[in-house]
Amino acid sequence: MILLDGKIASRAIKEKLLAATEQIKASGKTAPHLAAILVGTNGASETYVASKVKNCEETGFESTLIRLEEQVTESELLHQIVQLNQNPGIDGILVQLPLPKHINESVIIQAIHPDKDVDGFHPISAGKLVQGLPTFIPATPYGILLMLEHFQLSTKGKHAVVIGRSNIVGRPMSILLSSNIPYGNCTVTLCHSHTPNLADICLQADILVAALGKPEFVKASMVKPGAIVIDVGITRVTDATAKNGFRIKGDVAFDEVAPLCEAITPVPGGVGLMTIAGLLKNTLQAYQQHPLKAD
Ligand code: GUN
Repeated sequence: MILLDGKIASRAIKEKLLAATEQIKASGKTAPHLAAILVGTNGASETYVASKVKNCEETGFESTLIRLEEQVTESELLHQIVQLNQNPGIDGILVQLPLPKHINESVIIQAIHPDKDVDGFHPISAGKLVQGLPTFIPATPYGILLMLEHFQLSTKGKHAVVIGRSNIVGRPMSILLSSNIPYGNCTVTLCHSHTPNLADICLQADILVAALGKPEFVKASMVKPGAIVIDVGITRVTDATAKNGFRIKGDVAFDEVAPLCEAITPVPGGVGLMTIAGLLKNTLQAYQQHPLKAD
């Protein structure tokens, strides 16, 4: 069994990004700059955004974190986005999701200029992805492709089963795995909460991507021996014995599933780290596509 260690794979990517940024800076140019907007004080979102900012520092990128209170209005948030869109010093913009219920996520996502849409959530980015055109690939599916590439796991001709149809992970993942690209060319089944016989379908998977957000949902009885299992889940589960009072659980019952697999991602330390690597690569791409910053 190969442990798909996100620390190892993301470090290799970040080293290349750091080298690229150092070269940019050595030529007298400014570094790529990511702006992150965090609304409210959701604990998990705080952690993710802090990690994104820290990783920017580690790769020599500039970052700006804009914190807005939970009660911020949709129009105030839109105003912030318009300012970032117009600021030539900002290359990438991300608004951490989920947003408070009174804000329409779709309106916010569509306000981000597609040239700065490093999350790849704008319908223009998503449409390009579907048609196989160059675009920003959403960071988590991108990170998973980078993970497969790092560990040289071939996907061509395999049956990939994706559980979860979110715009952030499941749906773009299913499109990428079925696309005619390196680490694509799979036959893909996209499963969701209304899929009957889910366990039977999972058992047919050569590659199983669990992105449904239910801790330890995928059991050994659902996994074909020799499968590659990618666990996207990161749920906080209360645990009084843990330092923070919670433990992070994936969507896969790791201990019972791992012995069956050709390869499996751990949680934590797997896909989460690759998501950040994907975001950083998108930010560099946004910078390089800027007409005045490109070489
Ligand atoms: N919330 C969960 N995943 C993501 C992500 O990849 N980007 C943003 N902006 N919010 C998220």
